[in-house]
Amino acid sequence: MATATAPTFDKGLANTVAAETQMSFIDGGKGVLEYVGIDIDSLARNSTFEETVYLLWNLKLPTRAELDAFCTELRAEYMLPAEMDALIRQFPRSTPPMHALRTMISALSMFDREADVNTPEANRRKALRIVAKTPALIARFDRHRKGKPFVDPQPDLTIAQNFLLMLNGELPTDAMAKALDVCLILHADHGLNASTFAARVTIATLSDMYSAITTAVGTLKGPLHGGANEEVMHMLNEIGTIDKVDAYMAGKLERKELIMGFGHRVYKAYDPRATYLKTFAKQVAADTGNLNLYEMSRRIEEIMDKAVAAKGIFPNVDFYSATTYYSLGLDLDLFTCMFALSRNSGWCGHCIEQLKGNRLIRPMADYIGPHGVPYVPMAERR
Ligand SMILES: CC(C)(COP(=O)(O)OP(=O)(O)OC[C@H]1O[C@@H](n2cnc3c(N)ncnc32)[C@H](O)[C@@H]1OP(=O)(O)O)[C@@H](O)C(=O)NCCC(=O)NCCS
Repeated sequence: MATATAPTFDKGLANTVAAETQMSFIDGGKGVLEYVGIDIDSLARNSTFEETVYLLWNLKLPTRAELDAFCTELRAEYMLPAEMDALIRQFPRSTPPMHALRTMISALSMFDREADVNTPEANRRKALRIVAKTPALIARFDRHRKGKPFVDPQPDLTIAQNFLLMLNGELPTDAMAKALDVCLILHADHGLNASTFAARVTIATLSDMYSAITTAVGTLKGPLHGGANEEVMHMLNEIGTIDKVDAYMAGKLERKELIMGFGHRVYKAYDPRATYLKTFAKQVAADTGNLNLYEMSRRIEEIMDKAVAAKGIFPNVDFYSATTYYSLGLDLDLFTCMFALSRNSGWCGHCIEQLKGNRLIRPMADYIGPHGVPYVPMAERR
């Protein structure tokens, strides 16, 4: 029997360890992120999103044969049920994409006969389906809202290639697909962040994986979590040109306003996900005629370096993913969906981990209201 210890109040749970994971390790002080012990920078430079998902779910890098078999399984799940297409066509075109995504993930469960089967094998199959189908969900919703015909996925393409094909109606260049693939690798998992925690809370009740991922999408949607890269683009658009950066930043810093894309609750050193993305963002921006955005970003970073780096405030992954997504032609309100498209893999992996030796996650609240209050009949209330 567990020994009872006095509960402690930890607002925001910042100092509480609430789960064990073998997937990602973060050392915020040193600026380290590893997936299954492998440095994120090394994965971003050498791996693919599919291989990274395999790594997170199997805790080892695949052999060529294992990766081929895994990709074949994923590709068999790319298509959506026809009923999902019909459902998406009913959505109001003004629906914000994250609302649409939350609803679409939830709706997918109705077309999965294994939705309520919580065996490890069934959950692995559901994880595959969720990761494989999410690109089509987002792309189809975007085409629906723009009044464009749906584009089917091609079974011989990667997730990144297919997403851009289904979104834009044309095959992306290798460089564009690689840029998206790198962003997907960098966002795949990140410890017990808010949306991952939410997914684990849901699956720990022995609910189902679709419910857990729906919970996670709803949690990611908040501007304190997934929405910062969209805010970075709004800021760059507001500034407009590089000659206006210095005055804009001086005003912001003087008013002590936050600069979006800088700082992180966990990282007090350079966000290791931003290191490679920075060089990549430059290349993608140059290839797509958006070098001015990259140059503005660099100037902002130089100013911030002098102003706040001493406080442990550095660019985070959102700062350079913003210009990368923009350069790929994505609408700003799709940026958080890109995060979900990738983080699906972490969420699903955490659900599977949680169910090994599961325990209901049920913290306590510190009641700060009154006691002994009499029940007053309605007629006597004022
Ligand atoms: C992410 C964030 C919430 C982390 O907050 P935090 O860990 O509580 O950081 P702190 O409040 O300890 O920051 C320390 C100091 O740096 C300043 N600071 C933090 N982030 C800053 C930013 N983005 N721009 C300017 N100053 C910033 C704080 O105002 C504080 O200054 P002070 O010591 O003079 O009061 C915060 O940095 C932020 O809101 N960033 C912008 C949003 C963003 O990009 N979010 C994406 C995260 S992946």
